[in-house]
Parts: sequence; C-alpha cells; structure tokens
Amino acid sequence: MTILIRNLGEMHSTIDSILSNYDGDGPIRVVWPRRIKKNVQNFQRLFSGHVVYAVKCNPDPTILEALKQGGINDFDVASIGEIEFIKTWNQDSVLYFQHPVKSRSAINSAYQNHGVRHFSIDHADELNKIFEELPTNPEIVVYVRLATPELGAKEDLSNKFGANAEEASKLLKSINSRGLSPALSFHVGSQCYRPEAYRVALALVKKVMNVSEVPIRCLNLGGGFPVTYTGDPVAPLEVFMREIDAGLSSLSLDQNVELFCEPGRSLVAEGMSVVARVCLRKRNKLYINDGIFGHFLETHLHGFQPPNRAIRPGSRLSQDIESYEVFGATCDGNDVLPGKLELPNDIREGDWIEFGNMGAYSSALSSGFNGFGVEALVSLC
Ligand SMILES: Cc1ncc(COP(=O)(O)O)c(C=O)c1O
Repeated sequence: MTILIRNLGEMHSTIDSILSNYDGDGPIRVVWPRRIKKNVQNFQRLFSGHVVYAVKCNPDPTILEALKQGGINDFDVASIGEIEFIKTWNQDSVLYFQHPVKSRSAINSAYQNHGVRHFSIDHADELNKIFEELPTNPEIVVYVRLATPELGAKEDLSNKFGANAEEASKLLKSINSRGLSPALSFHVGSQCYRPEAYRVALALVKKVMNVSEVPIRCLNLGGGFPVTYTGDPVAPLEVFMREIDAGLSSLSLDQNVELFCEPGRSLVAEGMSVVARVCLRKRNKLYINDGIFGHFLETHLHGFQPPNRAIRPGSRLSQDIESYEVFGATCDGNDVLPGKLELPNDIREGDWIEFGNMGAYSSALSSGFNGFGVEALVSLC
C-alpha cells in the first residue's frame, strides 16, 4: 500500500493551475504558509503570554516550518514519538509534555534525552511516577490539569482528563512540598464556541489557588479556540481574549507567573485545503477520492462541513446548484461526508472539490485504510 506524498513544488500560484498540470490520482494537500504565519502573529499580538503549538493538530513539516516563520518555538507534545519527531526537526524547540498519562520510560527519556522540563498530571499516581522517575529539581514544572465544566466545545476533553478543585489543591501541595515547581493548566475542549468558557475555567483556577495557598510558577490555558466551518459562525479571537483578560485580572497573579496557551486548530486550520477529485456521479451522489479514513475523520465525528467549491480546471461549472451526498473512497459504508454539499448541477467525474479550513486534525488522523491516501502536497504563497 502506498501513501505517496509528492511535493509539487512552488511553481504554482493557484489551485486551478496546480490541477491543470496534475497527473496524479489522489487528493492534494494545499498549504498556505503565509496564512499560518499571519494567524500566529495575530495570536501573539492578542495573547499576553507565550503561544505554544499543539503538535498533534498537524505535525506536517511544511506546517511546522510556517509556524516557525511566524515565531513559534514552543510545542505541546503528547508522546515520546512527538518529542523525537520535533527534536529531529528542530533541536532548539522547547517542549511541554502535556499529556496527563505517560509511561515511565517516556517521562525518563523526555527528561534525560530531550531536555523536557514541563510535565502535566491529573492524578496522584501519575505524580508519583514523576517523583519516582525524576530528580528533585525545581526546574521541573508540574502542571496539575483541571477538569473544566462542559461549556460549548465540540470535543469535551474533561470527561477524560482533569482533576477537580479539591484533588488539584492536594496535588499542588504535594508538588510544592517535594521541591518541584507547581503549575496549573486546563483545556476547555476543542472547537469551543463559548468565549466565557475561559473565564469560567479561570475562576476555577482562582478557587484552587486560594484553597491550596501554593504559589504557582506557570499557568497554561490550553487550546480550544474555534474556526469557522460552513453554517457554524464563531466569535472572533478578540472576544475570547477579552474573556481571558477578565478572568486573568481577577486572579491577580504574581508578575513572575509565566502564562501560556497551546492552540492547535486556530493556528493552522485556515492554512490548508484538501482538493479531492470526483470519481463517479450517480444522480445526486458523488464518490470522491478522499473520505473519513483520509482527511475527513474529524468532520465525520463532529459533523463539521468545511467550506467547499467545485473546480473544473480551465473551464467553468454551471451557476445552478444542487445538493449532493458525498461518499468517500473506501468500501466502508460509514465513509460519507456529513450533511449535503451544495455544488453545481453539472459536476461530473474528473471535476475537483476544494475543501477549505482543513489544516487541523485532518492529515494527522488519516489512516490509509483500503490503500487510499494522499498523493501530493503543494505550498502556495
Ligand atoms: C493538551 C492539549 N493542548 C492543546 C490542544 C489543542 O487544542 P485545539 O486544537 O482545540 O486548539 C489539545 C487538543 O486536543 C490538547 O489535548
């Protein structure tokens, strides 16, 4: 089975020109490094702390390079695999091991071999692993991850991770008394539609700080900042930042507390399109060369509909629109895109569909099931 990524280079200026010259069979990833760079700079302008990128969202080196160009040097990693990958890509990257469940060997290797000093936990037994495996070194920052109330996120993460306020206070005290540096973190859930979720989470931080009376060294506000999918408008980042600023001002943090957030989606989603070909039309059913085992697993899980447009290289499609069900490439009956797509009534085999805002949790989740994979990648200015 081949999942071939051919780099189509940089001689193209538009998707239409790529397609006019494309002789491959599979879908194409189109990356816009400039959009990613702009998103990073916008985020850094609005957020008063360090911006860390969540590698899981899209670890493609083209994307990482664009993030670096924008000024990202800090990465949230979840596994030793991600750590080794990022360190091989850029030895100078600063890494934050923010998965609250880690093997002992991963903790050890992260610390000894890769210089990781920031670790996340949400349970006393995980904290004991840190105590037992690592030296007593105040440079080691241990984040207690708080569970947050479910407040408008597509993917709740607090059903799986996070300590409640009482547990968190005990964990902070334990970290402090052991001579490591205590810290707090949370994640309001991915694609969070309600800006006030951050203020509510920061109120929880305040409660834990008051109850524990432990001075924290770092505070990490996680990711969760949303992007627009079809029919799914979201508030601008400024509105989220206003809520964050309100929550932070009520904390009266010491000046030496380092503040972080670690977005994935909001930095990279708009920086990549997936362009898929129509392989067959049966009335109002289209069969394309990509699907939920390719770039579209997350759209299937959460019902997202990325913005889309049909393309026939070198000529025009009809202005008259019809609704289509769109089926993925594999033999699996679940392999269908959510909802219906509004596309030209003359769309046919050989035409293409560009799906926008596809940079997050798309390529990272594709499995190559049934032998279908991405064929090519191209960067556009
Ligand atoms: C610990 C952690 N940080 C950051 C992120 C990135 O979140 P998002 O892509 O919603 O910004 C995730 C996503 O699952 C996460 O688990």
